[in-house]
Amino acid sequence: MTMQTLTTKALREKYLEFFKSKGHTIIASASLIPDNDPTVLFTTAGMHPLVPYLLGAKHPGGNRLTDVQKCVRTGDIDEVGDATHCTFFEMLGNWSLGDYFKRESIGYSFEFLTKVLGIPTDRLAVSVFAGDDDCARDEVSAKRWEELGIKKENIFFLPKKNNWWGPAGVTGPCGPDTEIFFITDKEKCSDDCSPACDCGRYVEIWNNVFMEFFKNADGTFSPLQQKNVDTGMGLERTVAMLNGYSSVYDIDVFKPVIDLLKEKSGKGEEKIRDMRIIADHIRTATFMLGDENGITPSNVDQGYILRRLIRRAVRFVRSLGLDYSILEEISALYIDEYAPYYPEIKGNEEKVLSELRLEIERFDKTVAQGIKEFEKLRGYIQNNRLSGKAAFRLYDTFGFPIEMTVEMANEYGIIVDTEGFEKAFKEHQEKSHAGAEQKFKGGLADHSEATSKLHTATHLLNACLKYVLNDNNIQQKGSNITAERLRFDFNFPRPLTQEELKAVEERVNMIIEKKIPVVCREMPIEEARELGAVGIFNDKYSDVVKTYTIGEYSMEMCGGPHATNTGDLGHFSIVKEQSSSAGIRRIKAILN
Ligand code: ALA
Repeated sequence: MTMQTLTTKALREKYLEFFKSKGHTIIASASLIPDNDPTVLFTTAGMHPLVPYLLGAKHPGGNRLTDVQKCVRTGDIDEVGDATHCTFFEMLGNWSLGDYFKRESIGYSFEFLTKVLGIPTDRLAVSVFAGDDDCARDEVSAKRWEELGIKKENIFFLPKKNNWWGPAGVTGPCGPDTEIFFITDKEKCSDDCSPACDCGRYVEIWNNVFMEFFKNADGTFSPLQQKNVDTGMGLERTVAMLNGYSSVYDIDVFKPVIDLLKEKSGKGEEKIRDMRIIADHIRTATFMLGDENGITPSNVDQGYILRRLIRRAVRFVRSLGLDYSILEEISALYIDEYAPYYPEIKGNEEKVLSELRLEIERFDKTVAQGIKEFEKLRGYIQNNRLSGKAAFRLYDTFGFPIEMTVEMANEYGIIVDTEGFEKAFKEHQEKSHAGAEQKFKGGLADHSEATSKLHTATHLLNACLKYVLNDNNIQQKGSNITAERLRFDFNFPRPLTQEELKAVEERVNMIIEKKIPVVCREMPIEEARELGAVGIFNDKYSDVVKTYTIGEYSMEMCGGPHATNTGDLGHFSIVKEQSSSAGIRRIKAILN
């Protein structure tokens, strides 16, 4: 059989069909905005929404699952526009939750790649874990690959840096992996050329992770109750590879967008990077705005990243000399393209397009103001040089992007001290240690003072709801914290009355006013349970857990972070109480 040239639609279908035929239940993609995980901003992999099940909870779909998960990774933002990086992508995945392990997993992958996709065996290379103090060398996987016909010279043993995956956040399930690469026509770049090298000879298409460890907060690894398999195949990359394209941006989902940009701008390959950035960022923005837990642009957390993406796209639209309205046109193209698989973005179409328009208008105002400020500054410029500090002020105070400062300065023959800008920028970053820029790079959640306080307030809210409603069956069903507010979902059969809400608020504030220390202790899970600690994951963690105790009022198992004393929290107010889903109420509250 020859290699299949598939569309994204065909690859999605073939993948799910294949794993269904191997006893896997097809499940829906989860939201891009993770619930219950304060350590990451976005869903970055298919395993992310499945963490509780990897830790031992029973999944309603059984112990073999498969799906296509929408993912966002912003760590590679600077590389977007090259041949292979996207901030949003779809991950094809299959999971064994304590069911099959290495041999079967590798067998399925090999069968899918060679029998369904028709990739010749000698075009495949694999890497396996070389072993270290935490985990033994993975001879089982290497042997299995050999048995299936992968030549020894195409099996590479690599260290943790390359062949270990996870956790998705700071702590969580993880393990050694075996990665599968397509061997391109490029020659080896050196005698040591391997999949660890980025010369382009080996293109990664699939990662099979053998999740048998839990990474603890102190960096150590504990064995999990069950051995899992977590795999991920990048849909866009694999389609590009199957079609022999040198770039993911040549695949079917991007083609109409790139064609539109080319047609409207009259530009071609000389501006391809700008066009790819627009195509990528607007696709990501469309999915963020249209998500079932959709977000809107703001200055913190997920909203900040969304803002950056939209504004960056606007900049490149300017550089192509196009009208901003093309961004809405592009977003609408994506909505129609993806509606059959992600109906939520079609359902939220109006919101997506109007929020996009609003943010573009806001940015336009920022730009206008930045230009005014720049003109003022120009009067003081000496030797045709704009200092890094001045450029940073334009950025910091007016949100004026450095690239635009440089562009504008160039028009007047002024040179911007970009090194000085970088320096000022770094100094600023170091000052605001959990700075938002950092988060933008790492995709890591905020462990700032504001969120720590809201985490503690969430524990108090949980305890006070039980007390005021006199219902010990109340449990946390979801929690989401931004720097601005907390959101807490819990089971309760009816809306709360105004009096009840007031009583909850008063009780939380009473505990705050008592200035009670928040005490963190690590202990074996059994001990925590015996002491009556509450925790939604309490049957899933293997051994030692962290508990946070607030006087006689609250004891919860939790990863933190928290305030050290309730007296630091400020005044607690409930801003909204509403239904979240059947039997689940949702409270949004703030501290000020
Ligand atoms: N979770 C693994 C990855 O993202 C499969 O590569």
